[in-house]
Amino acid sequence: MFLTHLECSACGLKHDWSRLQNLCLSCHKPLLARVDLAKAARTLKRENLTTRERSLWRFREVLPLPGEVEPVSLGEGGTPLLSAKRFADDLDLWIKDESLNPTQSFKARGMSVAVSMAKYLGAKKLAVPSAGNAGGALAAYAARAGLEAHVFMPRDTPRANVIECRELGAHVTLIDGLITDCAAEIARRKANEEWFDISTLKEPYRVEGKKTLGYELVEQLNWTLPDAILYPTGGGTGLIGMWKAFDEMETLGWIGKKRPRMFAVQASGCAPIVRAFEAGKEMATEFPDAHTIASGLRVPKAIGDFLMLEILRESRGGAAAVDDGDMIRVGRELGAKEGLFVCPEGAACFVALNLLRRNRKISSGERVVIFNTGSGIKYLEAY
Ligand SMILES: Cc1ncc(COP(=O)(O)O)c(C=O)c1O
Ligand SMILES: [Zn+2]
Repeated sequence: MFLTHLECSACGLKHDWSRLQNLCLSCHKPLLARVDLAKAARTLKRENLTTRERSLWRFREVLPLPGEVEPVSLGEGGTPLLSAKRFADDLDLWIKDESLNPTQSFKARGMSVAVSMAKYLGAKKLAVPSAGNAGGALAAYAARAGLEAHVFMPRDTPRANVIECRELGAHVTLIDGLITDCAAEIARRKANEEWFDISTLKEPYRVEGKKTLGYELVEQLNWTLPDAILYPTGGGTGLIGMWKAFDEMETLGWIGKKRPRMFAVQASGCAPIVRAFEAGKEMATEFPDAHTIASGLRVPKAIGDFLMLEILRESRGGAAAVDDGDMIRVGRELGAKEGLFVCPEGAACFVALNLLRRNRKISSGERVVIFNTGSGIKYLEAY
């Protein structure tokens, strides 16, 4: 294993990886894993990736978990990158279809890595606040690992997510409130219950799983970067993870300095990052009365807000908010044209694409990648 330590994303304080860690012990911001990339590069080479397994564990050297330990895996990652010519024929548009992951969303990536490490480091009971898909993924990976899963979701989470969690053996608690209220309930009870809090960015390894989105994408584009990436943003783990992956790949000598313009897509009913970006703020304030059918985007306050905003600015990208009605309308249009039943979060990116083109933030001929983060099949009520 080439993981050397954990580093605070805000104050830089180093933390030991060999025990269960949540936030920075000094400033309570997210910790990020640091890997000895020079050593990792001795065995991890672009050429020999083709002969490895398809799951995200093919990038083993840049992931945590000692080499002799079996990961908790259900075959996550290795999802297709599909061209979308019929949706936009004057763009070089691609869809990374994450609905093909175990439990039908990209949350599987983060949970495979985080649950693997949590189990290795001795956790027995894992707790997560979830908009839906993270709960389903935790339930699956905890079951696979033989650990307890405790999932806290808003009462109006899509039915499919709730049923899935229960059928996978998780302890499900429905809360009258938002994901932030779920998180508060876990924070209140976790010490007594001996739960390890596996909330997004409140432990260091979900983002490591999510960073494989970046590694895979660049590999699928034959070691080039697109001009722009549109990402449906709640907690922002994928955005932060991909950005980390690009930096790591540059250090590995796999790519150059070019970065895509990163765009965070949110719902008009819950757009804290869009608001903060437009106001030129470094952090986002809690979005009042958050509501949207894209349940994964209903995150009124994210602990990684400052990291996301930094990425949007550094990449010269931006942020866009879209209406629920448009998500359904454009999701349908995309389905009929491209054959994908996307989640409303994914559909939101196609609405945002139209908006960004009208605002000249994206121009004809550019190579654009949209992340469809989950399957429409989990959102039957919304459709
Ligand atoms: C389908 C879907 N898309 C996007 C998101 C937002 O992901 P992130 O927290 O990485 O920003 C979620 C989170 O729940 C989700 O379930
Ligand atoms: Zn710190």
